[in-house]
Amino acid sequence: MRLTFLLLLCTIFYLAPSRSSAQNIQWQEIYPGVWKGTAGKPDAYDLLKAANVTPSATLQTLDKAAFPLKKEDISIEMHLGKTYIRLPLERNEQLFGFGLNFQTIHQRGRIMQLHADHYGKSDNGRTHAPTPFYVSSLGYGVFVNSAKYIDVYAGHGVRKDSKNPPEVQDRNTDDNWSAHPYSDAVEMLVPAEGIEMYVFAGPKPINAIQRFNLLSGGGCLPPRWGLGFTQRVHRLYNAEQVKQEAKAFEDRGYPLDFIGLEPGWQSKSYPCTFEWDKTRFPDPAKFVKEMDAVGVKINLWTNPYVSPDASIYKKIDPYTASHTVWNGTIPDLSMPEARKILFDQFEKEHVKIGVSGYKIDEVDGFDSYLWPDVTIFPSGHSSEQMRQTYGLLVQKYSYEMFRNNNMRTYGLVRGSNAGGSSFPYVIYNDNYSHEDFITALINSGYAGVLWTPEVRASKTAEEWLRRFQTVCFSPMAMINAWSTSMQPWTFPEVAPQIKAVAELRMQMMPYWYSEFAKYHYKGTPPFRGMSLEERFSSGVKNEKTATNLEENPYEEALTKEVKDQYMAGEYLLVAPLFTGETSRKVILPKGKWYDFYTGKLAGNGEVITITPGLDKIPVFVKDGGIVPMMPVMLHAPKANEKVDLEIRHYGEKNGNYKLYDDDGETFAYEKGIFSWREIKVERQKNGELKGSISAEEKGKPGTVGKVTWRYMTK
Ligand code: GAL
Repeated sequence: MRLTFLLLLCTIFYLAPSRSSAQNIQWQEIYPGVWKGTAGKPDAYDLLKAANVTPSATLQTLDKAAFPLKKEDISIEMHLGKTYIRLPLERNEQLFGFGLNFQTIHQRGRIMQLHADHYGKSDNGRTHAPTPFYVSSLGYGVFVNSAKYIDVYAGHGVRKDSKNPPEVQDRNTDDNWSAHPYSDAVEMLVPAEGIEMYVFAGPKPINAIQRFNLLSGGGCLPPRWGLGFTQRVHRLYNAEQVKQEAKAFEDRGYPLDFIGLEPGWQSKSYPCTFEWDKTRFPDPAKFVKEMDAVGVKINLWTNPYVSPDASIYKKIDPYTASHTVWNGTIPDLSMPEARKILFDQFEKEHVKIGVSGYKIDEVDGFDSYLWPDVTIFPSGHSSEQMRQTYGLLVQKYSYEMFRNNNMRTYGLVRGSNAGGSSFPYVIYNDNYSHEDFITALINSGYAGVLWTPEVRASKTAEEWLRRFQTVCFSPMAMINAWSTSMQPWTFPEVAPQIKAVAELRMQMMPYWYSEFAKYHYKGTPPFRGMSLEERFSSGVKNEKTATNLEENPYEEALTKEVKDQYMAGEYLLVAPLFTGETSRKVILPKGKWYDFYTGKLAGNGEVITITPGLDKIPVFVKDGGIVPMMPVMLHAPKANEKVDLEIRHYGEKNGNYKLYDDDGETFAYEKGIFSWREIKVERQKNGELKGSISAEEKGKPGTVGKVTWRYMTK
């Protein structure tokens, strides 16, 4: 008897290894330069299914490209019911992405578990957008379309059968012995019996990102007013206080396009009723209308957890999860029944009276208050899958509600994931480290999401101004005064500088709007890292060549993570300063760069040190750069309102720019009612620069008034 048992055990152990099996990957080129690979039995529910978007039509128009890796170097194995993915890495290769990271840009060598969560001060994979996408400095991208928590070893493990194994070193004798031997692979572990993955061709890293964003429907196109200024008021403000806030902005001449109401607009919050508090807002429809009449739209904070006192509580109950969040029920938004009940309520109570958008809070984490992984959802999707996709679901279906009303929206969300780039939402959090906020802004461009380094509070006028400057060079220019009641002019000693940069934000609206149109139609992230800039090669440090900054300042750019400067649109390089800094280094990629404010040459492929003073945020323009600007306005231009343009040109080279135009408020652009006006600045035979703009097309939007040209570099 004993012997039989032993034999049985041996057989089980003997058979175990055979449960691991190499999988054939079925590759299919679904668009030029985009391959879908399938192996095993992928989960039925994944990130792209949750986002449920149509890929951008632009994908069909892209250049053909060869598969960017050797297919035989990509392997997928099934073992103990999980999928093991392995992709090759070259020696001189750096990786970017793996979600919205806050402290790191270079991801090679890192270990993480991609998990939707708030950011807890460490880049361990837990973040508001744990996008399973990475882009290589060699010009290709990889996306694993799974709504599971994915373990990532981004160039960390070394296999016995590695083709490029690291040298074996002897610590006793070798001073260069490394605790982290070189690894030639990215490996990922997905708790699923198969996987769907995508490989994107370049040729440059930016092209791989564009393809990834286009697969997700292209980037979002906000309404024009979304790119103006927004103030979020104290959580308990009432209608009168909100009106006074708008009036104070108007009286003092500070731009303001929308005001965000925080939890107190609802009769109950945490959990929420989604209904107005009638003591603070006795006549919401009248209030929203009056605000609209003074050019200020209303955005509403909410979280999705349903209060027992909400009128939809009973109706939505069958479609909610087994557990609660703050005693509120969790709608299973992957079910059509649940989202119909929730968003019908939003539509009736808010959108139909003119509310312009939402801030959808608390859909990311964190574990101590969100639903636990033992929660059962009525759709049958696992709690893990719901955690990874909840941010996508709230964005998708709230956006669809606005689309059904032919109103564009622009709001905030605290959780997202791959597939969500076309949703007009910007991520934010409570962490409030200015440095981390800028690193996140850079990483948002590698993760297919938008991020705002919001301003809330500051200890000093200097900090207030420095933070304010960066938020004006980000996707959403916002003060979030939900607990502080602070206003742009709270520090009188810097109020004029604050006003100047808020005005600059408005003046640059034609530029911002066109750059977002490029995000939408071409997939180019409007805010992104330096590694994506042409002629800015960023590789891994070659151990053999010591960096000598005296001899070769540019070397710094090649080897160091660049976490404190970024690109804003096609032509601008932004190099913010943090509190306490009076000077900083700026790495200028090869080619000439000019000071945005003066047009003077700043440098060419070098590391410069600047001492810019407090008044301005340092911004540099690429040679031939064109920036279309409009006059200072306190509110964004309305649909079809003509505005005059001042078109600035920088440097010596001829310049080109595509200026986007549409009504700025509706979805008419989806029916082809938009135009791209071609701007050119060319040097004439007499040496002078001369600008031209293509004519307005018949039947297309034409909001360009009088054009003046400003050649900034004398
Ligand atoms: C937080 C959010 C803040 C603010 C606050 C209101 O979760 O991050 O921005 O909205 O809730 O309670």
